[in-house]
Amino acid sequence: MKLIGIARAHTNIALIKYWGKRNKELFLPMNSSLSLTLDAFYTDTKVTFDDALTEDSFLLNGEAQAVEETNKIAKFLDLFRQQMPEYYYAKVESLNFVPTAAGLASSASAFAALAGACNLASGLNLPIDELSTYARRGSGSSTRSLFGGFVEWDMGSDSDASSSRAHFIDDASWDIGMVIIVVNNQKKTVSSRLGMEQTVATSPFYPAWVETAKTDLAQMKQAIQAKDFKTLGEITETNGMKMHATMLGANPPICYFEPESILAQQQVRQLRELGIPAYMTMDAGPNVKVLCRASDMPRIKGELSKVFDESRLITSLPGEGVISLSEADWEASKNEFF
Ligand code: PMV
Repeated sequence: MKLIGIARAHTNIALIKYWGKRNKELFLPMNSSLSLTLDAFYTDTKVTFDDALTEDSFLLNGEAQAVEETNKIAKFLDLFRQQMPEYYYAKVESLNFVPTAAGLASSASAFAALAGACNLASGLNLPIDELSTYARRGSGSSTRSLFGGFVEWDMGSDSDASSSRAHFIDDASWDIGMVIIVVNNQKKTVSSRLGMEQTVATSPFYPAWVETAKTDLAQMKQAIQAKDFKTLGEITETNGMKMHATMLGANPPICYFEPESILAQQQVRQLRELGIPAYMTMDAGPNVKVLCRASDMPRIKGELSKVFDESRLITSLPGEGVISLSEADWEASKNEFF
């Protein structure tokens, strides 16, 4: 017997960052975060639970993955299998539609798509916010990728881990866009998991981060409600920089900035001097993401291309939440990919 589920989820960029866990096993964050889902980058995943299989397998972009990767996926599948009447091994196939040159981590879309596909294949059919508590256990940031537009990941309470889940805030359909300046597309040197652990354990700035992230979030939600782009952008920029400041204060210090990241930051400030509202944020890597008006993206690309090669400038509109795909969609996806 085969139980099949196929789903697509998009990646997201945090505007209020998640940085630090209060519970590593359950992926409970130290603070609530808020992100924008992007339509330019997504993962399609097919899960087949099959009683004829004798082990789990994981194919990423057509390539069989090593034991370590497959074990991580198997552990995640178990969250669903524990709820199923019978235990089936699974074949997991994923296609990452994240341009290889983008240098963006794909864990957010990857675990959100996997959660979506497992939800269908297992027959659990959980509501999306509840499903986000499963995605959370794969990677924290994927919690937010189950919804489109602006999404909040509520840190939840200690007494009830399932209260740490995502919810939809706004569809971001008010002229919102993002330009990604690709500084370096190589894999990051310090993983977000390690970076967080080191920062929480050693940075004297960390308590101030947790405290001010609360106010940043409350003010950002107000700005979104009022469609106040300037305030949204200013909080995005200050919150992202504060996260990096906590890392610089860690021992040993963690620095994801590269020389060109600083150059990109200067360019964003220069855009504002030209009267273009544009605000930067950075994650656990050297690339700079620019929150802007979608209608300004061509002009921003034009300005930035004076300094960065156009192939290193990627634009995106807000994306939608997780969706289910048919077998025909999956075939079309494969044709597009290979
Ligand atoms: O959940 P991870 O391992 O993808 O970590 C995400 C960390 C940041 O991207 C830096 C912040 C965030 O909220 O996405």
